Amino acid sequence: MDTAEYKQTVTAAFDRAAAHYDRLGVEFFTPMGLRLVDHADPRPGQRVLDVGCGRGACLFPAARRVAPDGYALGIDIAPAMVEEAAAEAERLGMPHVEVRVMDGERPALPERSFERVLGSYSVIFFPEALPALVRYAGLLADGGRIAFTSPVFTEDTFPFLPPVFTELIPRSLLDTLPPDWRPEALRRRFNSWLERPDDLEATMRRAGFGEVGITDETVPMVAVSGEAWVDWSHTNGMRLLWQHLPRDEAQRLRERLITELDAMRRADAPLSIPVPVRFVTAVVDR
Ligand SMILES: C[S@@+](CC[C@H](N)C(=O)[O-])C[C@H]1O[C@@H](n2cnc3c(N)ncnc32)[C@H](O)[C@@H]1O
Repeated sequence: MDTAEYKQTVTAAFDRAAAHYDRLGVEFFTPMGLRLVDHADPRPGQRVLDVGCGRGACLFPAARRVAPDGYALGIDIAPAMVEEAAAEAERLGMPHVEVRVMDGERPALPERSFERVLGSYSVIFFPEALPALVRYAGLLADGGRIAFTSPVFTEDTFPFLPPVFTELIPRSLLDTLPPDWRPEALRRRFNSWLERPDDLEATMRRAGFGEVGITDETVPMVAVSGEAWVDWSHTNGMRLLWQHLPRDEAQRLRERLITELDAMRRADAPLSIPVPVRFVTAVVDR
């Protein structure tokens, strides 16, 4: 699959997901975005760029920190995500927030015009991350900081999913996917530079950053029920799995996941799945 076709697939998947993204009785991106903003630590008056902003899980908390005199720009390749984020900025009454449709790999923005660049679960989608990181170094003012998240990838399961799903999604099912969408291919595409901290640090240094910090933390993914989790999983990276499964296999997997996830709940308490998340921070080195 060439890069243009891949990007169209990602854009279409997030466009279709936008209306319900992170809004279906599951909390994950919102607490992760808040934590990322803690790591990024934007200050009042600063200018923040959020790459792959989605509906604004870290854009809005960052915008609050830089208010009233700062500026927060969210860019996303999926127009429907940008529409949702723009509507939210309007609802929240945040005139210092702007959102634009833009390919985050090649942001058409002035050099040295931000103090912070953020990206939550977004830079993982870039086919060519290193040149994108070099561009972010150029967009940062002296002393500026980048902060992004990535899944902590494990060998055994569909990328993006926490380890508990290794048991719940049979390997035999993943082997029926088209070659480009099997876990090995996705792993090559998404985590070749992110998986090992030494590779990641070397990539950041090559891109023009220093003071690289890599911290793995657990973010709870909280769902009101197994069914809520399964519905929500159609609105994020796992959509790439659902859309490639034959209808009957997808239905069987849906039923299995709902049953097993509900069995993990204690009485009527929500389901809470610990998700290892990698937080990366670095300062532009010039
Ligand atoms: C998993 S979502 C995360 C969204 C948001 N950062 C959050 O934490 O809720 C990934 C986002 O990255 C966007 N994305 C993927 N490839 C992109 C690209 N090349 N340029 C800009 N955005 C991209 C998707 O459209 C999607 O909104």
